[in-house]
Amino acid sequence: MARILVIGVGQIGSELGPALVEQGHEVVLADRLPPEETAGWDVLTKGMGEDGVRRRWHRLDVLDTPALTGLIREMRPDTTYHLAALLSATGEKDPDLCWRVNVETTRTVMSTLSKLGAATAPRLIVPSSIAAFGPLPGQTETPAVTPDLYPMLPTSMYGITKVVGELLGAYAAAKQGVDFRGLRFPGLLNTAPPGGGSSDFANLMYFAAAAGQREVEVFCRPDTTIPFMYMPDAIRAIIELAEAPAARLSRRTYNVAAMSPSAADIAAALAARVGPFDVRYVPDFRQAILDSWPRALDDAPARTDWGWQPRWDLAGMTDDLLAQLGWVPRA
Ligand SMILES: NC(=O)c1ccc[n+]([C@@H]2O[C@H](COP(=O)([O-])OP(=O)(O)OC[C@H]3O[C@@H](n4cnc5c(N)ncnc54)[C@H](O)[C@@H]3O)[C@@H](O)[C@H]2O)c1
Repeated sequence: MARILVIGVGQIGSELGPALVEQGHEVVLADRLPPEETAGWDVLTKGMGEDGVRRRWHRLDVLDTPALTGLIREMRPDTTYHLAALLSATGEKDPDLCWRVNVETTRTVMSTLSKLGAATAPRLIVPSSIAAFGPLPGQTETPAVTPDLYPMLPTSMYGITKVVGELLGAYAAAKQGVDFRGLRFPGLLNTAPPGGGSSDFANLMYFAAAAGQREVEVFCRPDTTIPFMYMPDAIRAIIELAEAPAARLSRRTYNVAAMSPSAADIAAALAARVGPFDVRYVPDFRQAILDSWPRALDDAPARTDWGWQPRWDLAGMTDDLLAQLGWVPRA
């Protein structure tokens, strides 16, 4: 049993928390919001019950540095998942806050962990993103299938914070005795409302279709193609990487991939199950962010080093997610 701190309990944390409790770990969940106001409340309570959530909940604004360092010093976690962040669309609206939450608090977590004087290096997992990539100068797109090692030239403040987080993590691992691990997630889908990312167009389509809506408006073009992953795969990936023996890791941050449907592919997968489903494509500022991202990730090092293997494709995810969202096929 390990002592595990999950900071930022939103779309990912609300499924990660119950999965870690299920494994028998001692888990503390920290977020600036009370649990019932987080996007993941329904998912969390389904996973660990209302009492289970409240017992483990710690109200914490990560920008309150004494409170953040105090919690880490008091708890002395073996493993910390730092998931508090502003995502790409929200970050673009307030780039200064995005930098402070995503970068400065990550640095605080790293330096506080490094000073604990723990016998074994404290483990720290901070997800990165496909948003860490961007087109080379003079080009408009990143390579269709982007490898782990490729120039990182993001165009959004969110992407910039992700690259800096990766670099700080490598530094903390090399110089400060923190066992940092990161993974570049695709857009993620589950029943928790997403937290303001540019991949949210897909989540919007699933939520609308499951609610019985016949039409929905999304903010991208139909040919928009980015990598996606179903949350059960993402939770398995993050835990597998966190638990992988250090000797197996050839780098600190890994691409992980599962599927790369276009927006139109997702609409067609939904229409095949729920019947006529009219998607109106009205691109906004998020289209440029989406266009700058890889269409697919090459995740060969994750597969080789720690055995990463996705289990969910578009068809399987669509069947399962519609059911999880409460959609009932008509008789
Ligand atoms: N969801 C995705 O599709 C996706 C894809 C790639 C990478 N990621 C990364 O995974 C991590 C978690 O993402 P998520 O989707 O769960 O995000 P989310 O927005 O759903 O959840 C983030 C949580 O952080 C909390 N938070 C924000 N500011 C805070 C503050 N000042 N103090 C304390 N808590 C604060 C929010 O209340 C929220 O509950 C992020 O680092 C994100 O960049 C997510």
